Amino acid sequence: MQALAACLPDARVERWQQDSPAADYAVGWAVPPALFTHQPRLKAFFCAGAGVDDLLASRAVPPTLPIVRVEDAGMGEQMADYCSAAVLHWFTQGWRYAQQQARAQWRELPLQQRSDWPVGIFGLGVLGRAVAARLASLGFPVHGCTRSDLASGAQELGRFLQSSRVLVLLAPLTPLTRGLFDARRLAQLPRGAFLINVSRGALVAEDALLEALQSGQVAAAALDVFEQEPLGSDHPYWRHPAVRVTPHVAAYTVIEPAARQLALRIQALEAGASAESLPGRVSRQQGY
Ligand code: GLV
Repeated sequence: MQALAACLPDARVERWQQDSPAADYAVGWAVPPALFTHQPRLKAFFCAGAGVDDLLASRAVPPTLPIVRVEDAGMGEQMADYCSAAVLHWFTQGWRYAQQQARAQWRELPLQQRSDWPVGIFGLGVLGRAVAARLASLGFPVHGCTRSDLASGAQELGRFLQSSRVLVLLAPLTPLTRGLFDARRLAQLPRGAFLINVSRGALVAEDALLEALQSGQVAAAALDVFEQEPLGSDHPYWRHPAVRVTPHVAAYTVIEPAARQLALRIQALEAGASAESLPGRVSRQQGY
């Protein structure tokens, strides 16, 4: 809040309460639905996170209210760190040496070639591109799947999966992506593939992933997001030797860049720009 106030010295920036005066703009993440009923004059809502699935699912959000989400705001670098750490952990056999260490087992594993580790990034938005650039700079063959690839048919997705030894999920949760990675899709990955999910848990059918881990179709997974969060303490992921669980922390919104970006957007709107023209403008039709 202070960072935004510092970027907008002429504006009144305050924490929302039920009796706050009517504002022109609101900024938030996981905001209470009451904000929207108590703020009928909003010209736009700025989402402080990357994903807007919860916001779009909320009946409290007026259907015509423009929604604008932050873009990158420090998250691209963190996503790139998270995903490259996971890829390198598997590529350098770190995960298998950890399993061997647990058994006090001294056994050399074969050297890996980067060319045998193609990484497929599902979702090439701002964050997907940051991850792709980092992994490419580390020497991994990287390819991506975009919304239009997905729209061009199941075959395109099948080809993408077949050539992804590591699959990174970085697409928004929309009607098109919900449950997309089910048993049939996971079976299209090369045998012994690796999965990183840093977008939304509901993209993956959890039972299908557990089965694929059991059968060896998926060798290991790094999961930051889950269908139910927090992940229940008895969920099998916690204790699965090939699953790394993190509590939805792959990327935090960094306050200063986010505030600078929001201030620019608000200034543009105040100067007469249309909400449609703003970067980060959410399309309700596309669902992100
Ligand atoms: C977090 O999950 C976000 O969407 O920013």
